Amino acid sequence: MILLEIKNTFDHPLLNRTVKNYKHFRKQAKKTESDCFRVYDKDIPEFPLSIDYYAGRFQVQYYSKEEAEDVPEDIKESVETGLKTIFEIKNSDIFWKIRKKRTLLEQYEKLSDSKDHFISKENGISFYINLKDYLDSGLFLDHRPAREFIAKHAIGKAVLNLYSYTASFSLYCAKAGALKTVSVDMSNTYTDWARENFILNSFDLKNNILVREDCSKYLRQAYENREKYDIIIIDTPTISRSKKMDEMFDVNTDHTDLITNASKLLRNKDSMIMFSTNSRRFKMDEDLNEKFNIEDISHRTIPDGFRDKKIHKVFIIKLKSWRI
Ligand SMILES: C[S@@+](CC[C@H](N)C(=O)[O-])C[C@H]1O[C@@H](n2cnc3c(N)ncnc32)[C@H](O)[C@@H]1O
Repeated sequence: MILLEIKNTFDHPLLNRTVKNYKHFRKQAKKTESDCFRVYDKDIPEFPLSIDYYAGRFQVQYYSKEEAEDVPEDIKESVETGLKTIFEIKNSDIFWKIRKKRTLLEQYEKLSDSKDHFISKENGISFYINLKDYLDSGLFLDHRPAREFIAKHAIGKAVLNLYSYTASFSLYCAKAGALKTVSVDMSNTYTDWARENFILNSFDLKNNILVREDCSKYLRQAYENREKYDIIIIDTPTISRSKKMDEMFDVNTDHTDLITNASKLLRNKDSMIMFSTNSRRFKMDEDLNEKFNIEDISHRTIPDGFRDKKIHKVFIIKLKSWRI
């Protein structure tokens, strides 16, 4: 990626912010073998955007309050002209997404079927990224610190990753030296994508298992099969409904059962659940404190460059007492 403009100040505050952040994060990223990071996050009210950099491309998300179907032309023009002033890129390297307050069940709808993808790296791990076909890219940048956190605990451990999407948490654990990872997602698209990510990194698919299943069903089967895990990652969607499920899942009402059922698979008193949600109104059921030690580590899991400190919540959950 070539930075065309080396001057530090532009007429436009959006560009100043973007260049400053890009230079800052690029330095950090080089040290960690990464090439994806956020360079702008709704810093200026007239530009309600986030701009994410992925290996020479930009994903620009416009947060529409008025439920607009298109990005306003003046904003689009400023951003595209601006980014092309600073970087050696074409319009086709800029991918626009509109984030509307649509119903939560609509958010995984496909935008197109181009299958265009490229590789981006985070902490030396390669990921296939697709900025065209879906609202989400294949790698949630806000969860980098949570991935780093869990990888530190994964050496020699058995890891269950529920709602695994493209298996980024499992890839981190595999790289850290986990004994095995099991990634569960009910979507064929994402289990296939996850498999490609494992192959891309030359990780063994025998020890990194992918399961297409509803997570609640998987937990019941795993309990019957007496599966045990040292780490269970539960990064839930806020709401989930599909033909493959017996009932609709809503994190705000159903997390108590989910955490309780997952805890039955914990191997010993040091085993842990990492529970995460994007639901802004999420409140952990206080009754869970009777049985579990629950630590809210959200403040430690928001990456630099993300202004929205409520983008997600993350908890570490361990059993209070252990009965054999
Ligand atoms: C928010 S994403 C998870 C992100 C992922 N943990 C990561 O960090 O990359 C939600 C994922 O949950 C999956 N999903 C939704 N409902 C599910 C269910 N009931 N059982 C299994 N997977 C489900 C979706 O297919 C999607 O891949």
